[in-house]
Amino acid sequence: MPAKENVQIAPAQGKLGVLIPGIGAVSTTFIAGVEAIKRGLGLPVGSLTQLSTVRLGKRTDGRSPKIKDFVPLASLEDLVFGGWDIYEDTAYEAAVNAKVLEPSLLSQLKEPLSAIHPMKAVFDPEYIRRINGPNVKTGGTKMDKAEALMEDIENFRKTSGASRLVMIWCGSTEVFHRASDVHQTIEKFEAGLRNNDPEIAPSQIYAYAAIKSGVPYANGAPNLTTDTPALLAFARDRNVPICGKDFKTGQTFMKTLLAPGFKARMLGINGWFSTNILGNRDGEVLEDPGSFKTKEETKLSVLDQILQPKLYPDLYENLYHAVRINYYPPRGDSKEGWDNIDIFGWLGYPMQIKIDFLCRDSILAAPLVLDLVLFMDLAQRSGMRGIQEWLSFYFKAPMTAPGLYPEHDVFIQLMKLKNTLRWMRGEDLITHLGQEYYD
Ligand SMILES: NC(=O)c1ccc[n+]([C@@H]2O[C@H](COP(=O)([O-])OP(=O)(O)OC[C@H]3O[C@@H](n4cnc5c(N)ncnc54)[C@H](O)[C@@H]3O)[C@@H](O)[C@H]2O)c1
Repeated sequence: MPAKENVQIAPAQGKLGVLIPGIGAVSTTFIAGVEAIKRGLGLPVGSLTQLSTVRLGKRTDGRSPKIKDFVPLASLEDLVFGGWDIYEDTAYEAAVNAKVLEPSLLSQLKEPLSAIHPMKAVFDPEYIRRINGPNVKTGGTKMDKAEALMEDIENFRKTSGASRLVMIWCGSTEVFHRASDVHQTIEKFEAGLRNNDPEIAPSQIYAYAAIKSGVPYANGAPNLTTDTPALLAFARDRNVPICGKDFKTGQTFMKTLLAPGFKARMLGINGWFSTNILGNRDGEVLEDPGSFKTKEETKLSVLDQILQPKLYPDLYENLYHAVRINYYPPRGDSKEGWDNIDIFGWLGYPMQIKIDFLCRDSILAAPLVLDLVLFMDLAQRSGMRGIQEWLSFYFKAPMTAPGLYPEHDVFIQLMKLKNTLRWMRGEDLITHLGQEYYD
């Protein structure tokens, strides 16, 4: 990437519409949070776009503007929200049910949240098994459903007065599927939509509708969705940015902080056992083995890709890595995640590390949704298309161009993100990280 490239960025004029499949715990915590921050009822803690700075030039230059003053981002005042869910609850009712935010806070936000009525969802119980609701599109082929979604998108564009749109999946985790023949080309995919091919998941119908409507698509769940040759090529052909998969929040966030550190010091690891209890609807869906398998894949891949056991067989070849998720209703959204890490040092002497993270899943995820929405809109206004690898920072299983392996180290991801912003604005890139982290 040349340092002094001049990227033309269209101004962030008018409203930015945020379209969300899944009006559940994460999305309502995000929307309520934005409304609360706009009213001075809270701070956007956890959001880079709102709080972080970017250092420019030499360390002695003293130039560290806030990201939001450095690149032209939509302001919180300009965000408008819409979405789909299989339940008819308004965003206010869904937020009350999710029990993430205090009722006293939600009551102050009742008006804007009650105005958000989910549109009828595209849903298939074969893909999400533990829940079922009445607010769904029925009849017709998968192509008819895609067209109905495109109509929803255009209606929302008109009624909300948005000049630009971004879609972000905050729906439940679908069951594990690999890309099949229908996912190989857009022609096969479109034929599959017309023939109701069972391999096409609901999330892929939303993504197709978004891309065809020129709307960037971010994937907050581990679903396969756009990670297929057909939809990757479709997004590039249509000049639409896409990114995913699976918000990097609690336990995996911890893992991507620690594992690069052990590796940097050449400390060995024999075992990493991670277990969770959580009692929200996400936990209920993840009780289903098919949905858990999708989640497990993204959670397990992280360590292997960070530690590179083939390069460091003495340290990581025999690593036993297990991840468990247990649905435990009393905890609601307040998840507890334990990690037991068996490491070894000089001459192989063993040590143990225990982590007990009493986290709040949706509180950690909401600022990621905000940043992704604002950055995906920025990417589109900057003429960027296809996979946005610079947003890997936000994901457990970052999408990469075919043949490349993803970068999981959160500090390298942050460097990549900020360097992309510097590059967009024609500033010198900062590359002070040691090359040994990469190989
Ligand atoms: N909270 C986190 O820290 C975190 C981290 C990573 C990923 N995620 C993922 O984000 C997603 C949302 O999490 P959550 O806690 O808000 O879950 P949630 O169960 O509270 O909300 C998901 C909503 O999606 C709806 N839904 C399911 N299928 C749909 C469809 N086809 N169309 C429209 N709506 C549909 C459900 O009815 C539900 O209301 C999950 O996939 C979860 O795995 C969350």
